[in-house]
Amino acid sequence: MMLSKQQEAKIQSLIKEMTLEEKIGQMNLASVSIVGGFDVPFEELIEMVGDGRISNEEFGKIMQSAEQDFHEDEIREGKIGALMLQDPIKANKLQKIAVEESRLGIPLLIGLDVIHGFKTVYPIAIAEAGAFEPELFEKTARMAAKESRSKGVTWHFAPMIDVARDARWGRVSEGPGEDPFLVTEFAKAKVRGLQNDHTSTEHYVAACLKHYVAYGACEAGRDYNTTSMSRSLLHNTYLPPFEAAVKEGAASVMASFNDLNGIPCSVNQFTLRTMLKETFDLDGFVVSDANGIRECVNHGIASDDAEAGQQAVNAGMDMDMGTGIFSKHLKDCVKAEKVSESAMDEAVERILRVKMWLGLFDNPYVSEETMHRYDVLPKENIELALEAAKKSIVLLKNENEILPLKKETKISLVGTLADNPEEVIGAWAMSWNIEDCVSVKQGLEHAGANFTYYPCGGPEGGLNEAEIQDAIREGDVIVAVVGELVSMTGEAASKADISLPGEQRKLLERLLASGKPVVAVLMNGRPLALEWEQGHVPAILEGWHLGVQMGNAIASVLFGETNPSGRLASTFPKAAGQCPIYYNHPNTGRPGSKSKFTSRYLDAGFEPLYPFGYGLSYTTFSYRDLSVKEEPDRLIATVNVTNTGTVEGTETVQLYMRDVTASIVRPIKELKGFQKVTLKPGETAKVVMELAKSQMGFYDDERNYRLEDGIFQIFMGANARKGMMQEVEVTF
Ligand code: BGC
Repeated sequence: MMLSKQQEAKIQSLIKEMTLEEKIGQMNLASVSIVGGFDVPFEELIEMVGDGRISNEEFGKIMQSAEQDFHEDEIREGKIGALMLQDPIKANKLQKIAVEESRLGIPLLIGLDVIHGFKTVYPIAIAEAGAFEPELFEKTARMAAKESRSKGVTWHFAPMIDVARDARWGRVSEGPGEDPFLVTEFAKAKVRGLQNDHTSTEHYVAACLKHYVAYGACEAGRDYNTTSMSRSLLHNTYLPPFEAAVKEGAASVMASFNDLNGIPCSVNQFTLRTMLKETFDLDGFVVSDANGIRECVNHGIASDDAEAGQQAVNAGMDMDMGTGIFSKHLKDCVKAEKVSESAMDEAVERILRVKMWLGLFDNPYVSEETMHRYDVLPKENIELALEAAKKSIVLLKNENEILPLKKETKISLVGTLADNPEEVIGAWAMSWNIEDCVSVKQGLEHAGANFTYYPCGGPEGGLNEAEIQDAIREGDVIVAVVGELVSMTGEAASKADISLPGEQRKLLERLLASGKPVVAVLMNGRPLALEWEQGHVPAILEGWHLGVQMGNAIASVLFGETNPSGRLASTFPKAAGQCPIYYNHPNTGRPGSKSKFTSRYLDAGFEPLYPFGYGLSYTTFSYRDLSVKEEPDRLIATVNVTNTGTVEGTETVQLYMRDVTASIVRPIKELKGFQKVTLKPGETAKVVMELAKSQMGFYDDERNYRLEDGIFQIFMGANARKGMMQEVEVTF
């Protein structure tokens, strides 16, 4: 965050002028309090959305008419520095109070969960990451920044960059998958997209990297659960995306709910101060997750709110989300010399720098014209959403080339998910309009498909036998849209059983028993356990929750206008019992094999169902002539990739390495690069990729970065399981 000398001076003079209460105010992030106006308690209302008793849309309507407290008096008194909000009229009104009526006139920072798009909702992150395309990640983030800023939102609680290896965890949907390299590329691109277009203050927002750190490693995939790991694992796998994104300029970071090796991340001096601030050199500030500081009392690390607040500030926490603990207790903590005022000056300086960099001191309001700019989605935004959705779709199976379908084919479209536009959106999106959402059924209609729709059943449970019979009788091909409701994914949505929910497997069985070809289109927010489906359903398309253009993207792939090119950013297990399962695991003394006394399951073997990086195409690719050349500071790997099929297609060439012998057990493979190539039938591309030697080391527990001479295996191929390999001896 580059600031001018005058801006820096202004920040310093403000800090000098501020009272202790005003400093604490800047460290306080409030949300609009719902104080009534509906028949049930607010907590129950939230539960009703969670369990599907009311839809998101109905909830939105109730919220619009709910009585809310916007904390106007506290803003006037300088007791609130940041707010969660998405209403531009309100935002302007509250900014005016902050700027014109508070003593020092410091503008508010307005934050929101804009995880995968604002009005234009893009694929959920686990899906978008599968496009393996940083330029795309950047573009969708840039568009989301512009849209949200037009409504006065200047701070995104995104990107979510938790490396996640356990499909039971509901939040795998929100992040870019299991691999630290891909997550890092995603994180950097998102920060660039959100923050780097300074052609106007209307074009950028502050990113907030979350959840810091190791939240994705919550034990047994249960949300909010404890995490334990060696320091070397933390340094090699969980910290790198955060480090890289901080170096890319990320303006803020959100501490995670979990404890890490016994210390909750909200009060963790090592992760917050030593790593984030002193080692990675974060320029901006750290915010807690919602209620995270208070939860330190539940963790049993602080005896009460005051102690939790004190621990948080001393550990390097700059802003409290939602508890008001700083407002209530920090003044006394300072008086009692348990917290130094200089720690608070540091926090305030960091927060003010972000506000200054956002241009809020000069430009706190959104104009009438700006705030309506995206009310009707511009063509460009819709096209980007369609592009992102198409690129995220993964073809998992295509026996006898059932796909693509011919437009004339008589299709029975099946599954309640196919006809529910709300369900295309995915977890954590809150600013979309239902009119912009295209369901699979609508997508088929737009494509002019020859189809009839029979709901038959879905994730909610229950099958309609008569509709199943009709679907079987009428269609020449059955397209069954199956998967998860959005409410089954995201925060607080961990699952012990990750097979298709409800009676959807039975539905597929009934359809398959007819002998008609069945195509399963999946809508889901986590890797599902699909061993049975892989064994029985001839064609499977992974559609995830693809955002507003989902239906059009699916139709385009079903009819072959788009050749699917998405890859899996997460390993798919055969069964939940294999979780956590990920390709880049350390080797064991008894690597899994067919023989009994090896690291395997009696009933699920040692291989996943689909490996990381996996995805088919309507064409095929072959790899030849891998060669690896050593140069003083890098390896150059080259391979010839040929399109051996009959249609044009895009292959994602993946470069992996393995350090064969090292002083710490290393992963059996590590992704180190990828490159997408689009080839015509019969065409060959020479794909050249570089692996800098500086990328070939690893951290030990003391964070020494070790580059150890020896044999390395270099792989180039289609996924983490399939590729060519060459061994090279490398000296550093
Ligand atoms: C989530 C965060 C989110 C925050 C604010 C929390 O419950 O863990 O990811 O940013 O709420 O909505």
